Amino acid sequence: MSEPVIAQKAPFPVEVEEGKTYYWCACGKSAKQPFCDGSHKGSEFAPVAYKADKTGKAWFCGCKHSAKGALCDGTHSKL
Ligand code: FES
Ligand code: FES
Repeated sequence: MSEPVIAQKAPFPVEVEEGKTYYWCACGKSAKQPFCDGSHKGSEFAPVAYKADKTGKAWFCGCKHSAKGALCDGTHSKL
């Protein structure tokens, strides 16, 4: 398993809408962080679907090392 690119060592705060699905970039190569723009093609990475359960701010992982997948779990502070 290759390592994802660290887009930034901090989360991306995004206003999300309840019931909407977002595709978080897991590879770190997207130019549209924190979301997938198709740049993972040809790699072993694939975007991770995140369905918002409420409207408001969500903190998407920018370092791509969160154990919680799409959302920041604080791992970025240890990289
Ligand atoms: Fe990173 Fe699609 S561009 S997962
Ligand atoms: Fe990746 Fe916080 S930005 S764990």
